[in-house]
Amino acid sequence: MIASHLLAYFFTELSHDQVQRVDKYLYCMRLSDETLQEVSSLFRKEMEKGLGADSNPTASVKMLPTFVRSTPDGTEKGDFLALDLGGTNFRVLLVRVRNGMRHSVEKHKIYKIPLDIMQGTGDELFDYIVNCISKFLEYIGMKGVSLPLGFTFSFPCHQNRLNEAILLKWTKGFKATGCEGEDVVCLLRDAIRRREEFDLNVVAVVNDTVGTMMSCGFEDPYCEVGLIVGTGSNACYMEEMKNVELVEGDEGRMCINMEWGSFGDNGCLDDIRTEFDVVVDENSLNAGKQRFEKMISGMYLGEIVRNILIRFTERGLLFRGRISERLKTRGIFETKFLSQIESDHLALVQVHSILQRLGLESTCDDRIIVKEVCTVIARRAGQLCGAGMAAVVDKIRENRGMDFLKITVGVDGSLYKFHPHFSSVMHETVKQLSPKCEVTFLQSEDGSGKGAALITAVACRIREAGQH
Ligand code: BGC
Repeated sequence: MIASHLLAYFFTELSHDQVQRVDKYLYCMRLSDETLQEVSSLFRKEMEKGLGADSNPTASVKMLPTFVRSTPDGTEKGDFLALDLGGTNFRVLLVRVRNGMRHSVEKHKIYKIPLDIMQGTGDELFDYIVNCISKFLEYIGMKGVSLPLGFTFSFPCHQNRLNEAILLKWTKGFKATGCEGEDVVCLLRDAIRRREEFDLNVVAVVNDTVGTMMSCGFEDPYCEVGLIVGTGSNACYMEEMKNVELVEGDEGRMCINMEWGSFGDNGCLDDIRTEFDVVVDENSLNAGKQRFEKMISGMYLGEIVRNILIRFTERGLLFRGRISERLKTRGIFETKFLSQIESDHLALVQVHSILQRLGLESTCDDRIIVKEVCTVIARRAGQLCGAGMAAVVDKIRENRGMDFLKITVGVDGSLYKFHPHFSSVMHETVKQLSPKCEVTFLQSEDGSGKGAALITAVACRIREAGQH
């Protein structure tokens, strides 16, 4: 494959031997149709395991019930506050809902979370969050008002009801102490109490996938799946209550936060994990955890590429065998470089300047090889994501006993939005692996934040109806 790609560069001086040596490494990252089919079937099995009460403890895909069952009926209205914590930024939003369907973000602010806060103590993290909320309330002139609040908290949580979320484990760049095993709503309330300045009425805690699905659901009633491919990756979908053994009751449907990032943590993906995946995992904050996520999401793809480049250089396949000090730095090869490199078509000028910034003097051949590495890694990510998604939509189709299913997936996340090829590779894979489904992907605008407010609006409407 690399050989045919390289034909385009007729001026290349890559020898046949060099092409073969490069390809020997990249070969195991080019997934065949059969492998993708296998991954999809394996994922489906893990979904079933996660849903079963007895099998759940050993399932790598935890299939967490979210207690989100109802969708808006159009009578919801009011102002809601939404918090969004999950990446490097914390966002606070004021969302206005009028007649359920019409909603808008009135005001919002983004606050950067410093690394020492992400990885300090839980009290410091929640005090920081409450400080941001305080600044926001002052900015919108609503300091004394206690608005209903929806909290998008994008980490695996065990929920027994909508406004409780026990953090199972941190993922991505977070590791604040004293939070795992605790209800994040209590941690937030404690921090608000410590500040003695305002009160908040936390109505719902939701995952970003759930918020995304919900907000896209307003635009498209077929939207019953949510997908995030950004710093981390995950998906949720509407499951039949009768299949959700962890929650009592058989009527209707409930949204399941699959936490698909941990697919493979029981070793079931070991056949396709490469030495580079293993190194990236071992050097991460949560070794052994989130193995699927580490093969597909933005926080890790750059690291995989960096490790491959180091190995190629050590083997004399790149940069005349000379590794720069900068390339040895963890995290220096950002995932956005993959997007920039793949957008660089003709002269590979961008590739040249990115490598130069990393202290690497490249030849034309070096740049071709680096681009090929980026292509292979992003393509594999798109395919794996597609294999997981194909299993999800096909399960929904079977649940409903349909020969053919039309369904929409609400999507968000930087890799999906900004990489030039990731989304099309994923779409293609879903099409190929689930031919009995017609899947539309709807890009969400601000979904994770708005979605939490909408879920809060529905919960308030139901609560008020119950009081009459
Ligand atoms: C978290 C999920 C989240 C995803 C996308 C993962 O690391 O475990 O809860 O939905 O990232 O933000």
